[in-house]
Amino acid sequence: MSKKENELLVKELYEKYPYPSRPRSSKKELLNYSTWVAKIIGHGNEFWNKKSILELGCGTGELANSLALCGARVNAIDFSHSSITKAKELQKKVKTNVQFEEKNILEFNSTKKFDIVISLGALHHTIDARKGFAIATKHCKKNGFVIIGLYNKYSRFRHRLRRIVLFLFAGKNIEKRIALGKKLFGRHPSKSWLADKYGQVHESYHCVNEVLKWFNEENIEFVASKPKFATPIIDELKWLLKKQNAFFVMVGKKN
Ligand SMILES: C[S@@+](CC[C@H](N)C(=O)[O-])C[C@H]1O[C@@H](n2cnc3c(N)ncnc32)[C@H](O)[C@@H]1O
Repeated sequence: MSKKENELLVKELYEKYPYPSRPRSSKKELLNYSTWVAKIIGHGNEFWNKKSILELGCGTGELANSLALCGARVNAIDFSHSSITKAKELQKKVKTNVQFEEKNILEFNSTKKFDIVISLGALHHTIDARKGFAIATKHCKKNGFVIIGLYNKYSRFRHRLRRIVLFLFAGKNIEKRIALGKKLFGRHPSKSWLADKYGQVHESYHCVNEVLKWFNEENIEFVASKPKFATPIIDELKWLLKKQNAFFVMVGKKN
């Protein structure tokens, strides 16, 4: 299967199962998203106030709307039409002015640069995460921040094994994968969650040293991460042993 065909399957998955589609998203609940991210850099929600922010792969818009509620001017893109539709519905409900657009991250090209570019859980579902990262940094202003969340190649080891089983028995058929994943590996109340975890046909895995190399190549200075690490690889293996942190976030400042 070609990369382009894989990309179409990813789009198909999120068209059918927009993610995260949180059932409850009052203003108060939404603010948990921006708080969680601000904490990584040692700030509170005041950090976002008056900042221009680009979110790549915004899904159903929880983070984008949350950042806007904190006073940020947010542009958010995703290639899933149904995710953007849900993001706009949420926007209406909480009354923000986020600019949501249906666009492919890997084709995004704007003359505008932003104070902050953020992409959590999306670049590893594009067919070229490194290119997505270059697009993120390209749209970031000098002294601006790039915030990237990716699956970790070490701590996601268990899930990678599950994916091999799913691939062997269900191939790339999304519905079969979801049904089998649910049966073998556990139920979850949200269909979006099950689809994202088991129906997913394309995800790439990354590690701290790799992202530090990307930072270096794009003239980005490392600022913070979640979880924190002292010794890459060893700490990432510890995350695996502690059965946590298959997802890690790295923050850098553009020089
Ligand atoms: C796991 S969801 C993450 C959503 C949101 N960022 C969050 O953290 O909840 C991944 C999102 O990336 C989007 N995505 C994947 N590849 C994309 C691409 N090439 N261009 C635009 N969006 C993409 C999907 O449509 C999906 O909404």
